[in-house]
Amino acid sequence: MAGEQRDFDGAAATWDENPGRVKMAHDVAGAIRDTLRPGLGTEVVDFGCGTGLLSLALLPSVRSVTAVDSSKGMLGVLDAKIAAKNLANIRTLLVDVEKGDPLPGPADLVISSMTFHHLRDIRPVLAEMARVLRPGGRIAIADLDSDEGKFHDSPEGVFHNGFDRCTMQKCLEAAGFGEIRNRTAAIVHKPGPSGEVRMFTVFLMTATKKA
Ligand SMILES: C[S@@+](CC[C@H](N)C(=O)[O-])C[C@H]1O[C@@H](n2cnc3c(N)ncnc32)[C@H](O)[C@@H]1O
Repeated sequence: MAGEQRDFDGAAATWDENPGRVKMAHDVAGAIRDTLRPGLGTEVVDFGCGTGLLSLALLPSVRSVTAVDSSKGMLGVLDAKIAAKNLANIRTLLVDVEKGDPLPGPADLVISSMTFHHLRDIRPVLAEMARVLRPGGRIAIADLDSDEGKFHDSPEGVFHNGFDRCTMQKCLEAAGFGEIRNRTAAIVHKPGPSGEVRMFTVFLMTATKKA
């Protein structure tokens, strides 16, 4: 783990060329649909949306998505997709929660995939998610299970080597969430330094904002 910034702007143009990322987003979207069954009235915020892989996979199942990210480059790629497909029910917003920018709201569902391990402290972000959710609103957070620092090829901007699900559950409880559930949403295979294939699991934690 290291404290340096990761260059998401520089990675944006080729982000979608990694088929593992595209598959993971579809697996996570499927797990969110199966677990929470969002409806066509559901207003969603996707925190750390990147190029919108998860936002766009979930979009047909919901009313709208507000896709937020701190990287202009990532949002630029998503804006181009939105324009090319002439989509009316998704918008992007430049937000850096670690700099104190508020999340947009109100929302029925806040989703996030593979972003929490890039946050220094997840607790204020969970509190901000709870703040923007309507009463009874829900969150769905996907991220790596504890990975001993082996998932990323370089450590810049990686502040957590995955998460322990029990620790995440406690953080969600402290932020005012109940009905907390977890499941495995995706499995990723990546080659290690000696050519061996390593397997990583991605959890999906879902929870409901308490009244
Ligand atoms: C590993 S990428 C995941 C992108 C996308 N969710 C996906 O699965 O393809 C993490 C994203 O989180 C964004 N991010 C990191 N820290 C952030 C912050 N403090 N506020 C908003 N977005 C942030 C990055 O810019 C990046 O686009």
